Amino acid sequence: KLAKELGIMKQPDPFKWTNQIVMNCADIDIITASFVPEGGEEINATGFNYQNEDEKVTLCFPSILQKGSGSLKIDFVGELNDKMKGFYRSKYTTPSGENRYAAVTQFEATDARRAFPCWDEPAIKATFDITLIIPKDRIALSNMNVVDRKPYPEDHSLVEVKFATTPIMSTYLVAFVIGEYDFVESQSSDGVTVRVYTPVGKAEQGKFALEVATKTLPFYKDYFSVPYPLPKIDLIAIADFAAGAMENWGLVTYRETALLIDPKNSCASSRQWVALVVGHELAHQWFGNLVTMEWWTHLWLNEGFASWIEYLCVDHCFPEYDIWTQFVSADYTRALDLDALDNSHPIEVDVGHPSEVDEIFDAISYSKGASVIRMLHNYIGDEDFRKGMNAYLLKFQHKNASTEDLWECLEQASGKPIAAVMNSWTKQMGFPIIVVDQEQHGSDRVLKISQKKFCASGPRNDENCPNWMVPISICTSEDPSCTKMKVLLDQPETTVNITNIAPDHWLKINPGTVGFYRIQYSTTMLESLLPGIRDLTLLPVDRLGLQNDLFSLLHKQADMQEEKNRIERVLGAIPAPDLIQRVLNFALSVRKYTHTLTVENRSDCGNF
Ligand code: BES
Ligand code: ZN
Repeated sequence: KLAKELGIMKQPDPFKWTNQIVMNCADIDIITASFVPEGGEEINATGFNYQNEDEKVTLCFPSILQKGSGSLKIDFVGELNDKMKGFYRSKYTTPSGENRYAAVTQFEATDARRAFPCWDEPAIKATFDITLIIPKDRIALSNMNVVDRKPYPEDHSLVEVKFATTPIMSTYLVAFVIGEYDFVESQSSDGVTVRVYTPVGKAEQGKFALEVATKTLPFYKDYFSVPYPLPKIDLIAIADFAAGAMENWGLVTYRETALLIDPKNSCASSRQWVALVVGHELAHQWFGNLVTMEWWTHLWLNEGFASWIEYLCVDHCFPEYDIWTQFVSADYTRALDLDALDNSHPIEVDVGHPSEVDEIFDAISYSKGASVIRMLHNYIGDEDFRKGMNAYLLKFQHKNASTEDLWECLEQASGKPIAAVMNSWTKQMGFPIIVVDQEQHGSDRVLKISQKKFCASGPRNDENCPNWMVPISICTSEDPSCTKMKVLLDQPETTVNITNIAPDHWLKINPGTVGFYRIQYSTTMLESLLPGIRDLTLLPVDRLGLQNDLFSLLHKQADMQEEKNRIERVLGAIPAPDLIQRVLNFALSVRKYTHTLTVENRSDCGNF
């Protein structure tokens, strides 16, 4: 209005028209670009301004582009790089010893822009029609099935391979692979064609992953109550691969050790690892690909969820592995150890520039993420959890969602305060130590429970000590595998009354070791657990959790002798005295270091 009064010429309204298009683009040279507005004339771009730092290019047009639809045509060249990101070359050796190259993509998080100019932010979804022109003696794979393969008219050594249109999807999930591979194929019970591509001559080594994938797809279809939406899924072993595996929709890429199993020479741990990685990437086909995070801030949910459900899936397909015990001994204890350091960070972190995105693929996102989802699943119960998951996937399928959207669906399904509980675990770093004491009152047991922050560097009496909303479950010696009572500790301390429990019965907190906290029992409570350790009625995961808590408490206790005595009494119940002594000595020596060690870099939180 002021401009009008002063007679200043009206500025162009950027919401109605522009003469520039800004795209993500890195290590690419644009040769020509043009824009054809719907029903209008083609306009050739006259300038390409590269903002290399920001990995962007601005296409400048000589006349205005009106608001509305149109098509943008770009001719460009890039290099098949050796950086294992974008569109890159992967070297392999043929059975006769010759070196050859395959061409492979790896786009997550922000490297699709190295293969073609695009908008590769997760919330910008599009369908993709991909055609590849390749040497005729190679195979080409992409997200979708091949719909046409014909000779390329201009060069008879080449063929043109056209793939079906993808569903609407984020660009970081697009993939293509060109190379020489063998494969094994099967059909899952829900009608999806599954292929495992291996190096030439090693098809046998794809059979185990094929079995895992064909069992896994129906499991997820049933668990989510949503079918896998594509007609096929390929799993392919890539010779040079930076990550462990990548969940590209319909074409999952793996490092060779995460997919191939030599049937004659492999150990149980290799098979378990392949099963977990396949379970993880196939879970993303729903959680991540069908419903995608709004922005990389929610990456922890994508990865934490997949890192939890991979165990649920493997436990279902291979119950003989007892895989949850491995979860406790690997992810859970690792997350507790790292998150007790002063330089840990909250699960949810703000991310801006692409360089910040890589930093958050760490053990806090993966292992703590998986551990708090496991605790949440236990707090809600499987039935309501599945109901909430189904509502979430249906509501946001082919769209994007945030962490809060999932909490809302789970809250509706369970009637429990999910957002409040989970915010305390994802928005603040660290976790509590739960201090427990008990008294017998007639046939009742009265528990005094309190929480304070657990720090590897020793107890702290900060005034503003954080609090968590802690789901606590309790079991008794009557049935150590069954939860007798559940409480939500939402304040610094509380008292819990458990009725009808005989004075000689023991009581344990956190059966199954699902809560993301450590426990410090009073001496009498700890001693009462000794028979359960000795006669093995306490489950392996419970003994593991107990031992791990004691071990870490030894690090932080002021009165070392007293703590050492307590621990020796408990560990003494385990029939392996030499081992116990070695563990104790180790714990004592580690303690010395934790007091002098300062860790400065977030990458010490176990970057992958
Ligand atoms: N989406 C990730 C792969 C990824 C990680 C791409 C970092 C780009 C940057 C994939 O789903 C994943 O989590 N892979 C894991 C293996 C998994 C079994 C924990 C990996 O690569 O370590
Ligand atoms: Zn993942």
